Amino acid sequence: MRFDRRGVAMLATLISVLACSPADEPPPTGHHLPADHRAGAPGIGDPDFPTDGNGGYDVSHYDLAIDYTPTTKRLEGVTTIHAGATQELTSFNLDLAGLTVREVSVDGSPATFTRQGDELTVRPPQAIDGNTPFTVKVTYSGLPKPATNNANLGTYGFIPTSDGAFVASEPNGSKTWFPNNDHPSDKATFDFTITVPAGVTALANGEPAGQPTTSGGKTTYRWRERHPMATYLATATLGKFELRQGNTAAGIANLAAADPKFKASLNDLYTASAEITDYWSTVFGPYPFSSTGGVVDDYSAGYALENQTKPLYGGFDPGETIIAHELAHQWFGNSLTIRRWKDLWLNEGFATYAEWLWSEHKGKKTAESFFRDFHQRPADDPMWKYPPGRAKPDDLFNQSVYTRGGMTLHALRKAIGDATFFTLLKTWAAEHRYGHVTTEQFVDLAERLSGKDLNGLFDAWLFQPRRPA
Ligand code: TRP
Ligand code: ZN
Repeated sequence: MRFDRRGVAMLATLISVLACSPADEPPPTGHHLPADHRAGAPGIGDPDFPTDGNGGYDVSHYDLAIDYTPTTKRLEGVTTIHAGATQELTSFNLDLAGLTVREVSVDGSPATFTRQGDELTVRPPQAIDGNTPFTVKVTYSGLPKPATNNANLGTYGFIPTSDGAFVASEPNGSKTWFPNNDHPSDKATFDFTITVPAGVTALANGEPAGQPTTSGGKTTYRWRERHPMATYLATATLGKFELRQGNTAAGIANLAAADPKFKASLNDLYTASAEITDYWSTVFGPYPFSSTGGVVDDYSAGYALENQTKPLYGGFDPGETIIAHELAHQWFGNSLTIRRWKDLWLNEGFATYAEWLWSEHKGKKTAESFFRDFHQRPADDPMWKYPPGRAKPDDLFNQSVYTRGGMTLHALRKAIGDATFFTLLKTWAAEHRYGHVTTEQFVDLAERLSGKDLNGLFDAWLFQPRRPA
């Protein structure tokens, strides 16, 4: 479910014309083999993350089967990907970090494959026609290793714990546990079949697809997320968990899970998640998914991630502020998803502003007061040097993207008034429900609804390396 990148298609056509090599002639031999223009690109086209995601196809559904043993930390997996080719494909890539691939098939026929870095290149026995659906099945296994490389991102991806795994994959860590098109511009639905030793609980996105079944000392859990989801929001968090299940007052299925170490937070997590989901539904519009809730694991990440339908809290007692933040992401980030990482303020600025709105709603500190306190920070505060409208690939989650991003929304609220501002939030969420968004689209909508020229405001708040007046 990726957008059409017409420019890229035109460029591909131009290159094929320049290369002067008709598609059905065998490639010339010799030292200067032209790149096969029928090979899917190794990146999806995000200039800040050139090898993330892949070109030439668009995934509609992932079917993940995973068997994981906490004592050995070994994962056995079969991933079946349903995709549509967006061009003729003699080969295409998937993203996969580490692990050993045993077998790949395309539409049921064995395919050859090669590995290079985090790219798995698949060569089907026959080229796939453009505009055609196809299925690729990858059988793999090994000891998953989380990503640790990125400057300010810490450890993320599939993180083994003593009783299971803590799985938080933003921005590109889902390739540490299954082969996929690892970029938010390609969303898809997911089915999970997760087998673990009996006594271990498997928590993935969406809702249970049938009761767990146990045999031979192993339990298999099935989960289904039937709304489109970015790969970084996929989770299969495993371990010993206490559960509380029910419905919010407005009737949305609610599941809270806590590691026994955090048993004391289970009820608060359950209650706050329900209340906040229902409140955001009145402010942002109808909840986009079929269930809500959250998971507290004992891995001391010190952070949380907005995993679709099941935010994950790493090693602390989640309070209302962070729950409000992660649940606001279900609208801003998860239902409305960025096409490129530089627009990350559309996720984090909105979720941070939601924290202030929650505080205001509870009769505590107002959004205006948060805004003022931050605005008073001295001119040499690092936040003013970092324009949040262009998140930097080596410092993606800089505080500016959160705080100055949130301040941008408050400055906008003051400029267009409460009535238009809150209509804008709902209209934004409704118009792009389950879709993709860019900053330009948000600015356009704000101008359309307010009838004001807001270029100066957005430019000062999002794009200038100095404190706005
Ligand atoms: N999006 C998360 C938040 O704002 C922060 C985050 C970024 C994160 N990358 C992560 C959390 C990786 C866990 C793992 O709450
Ligand atoms: Zn966030």
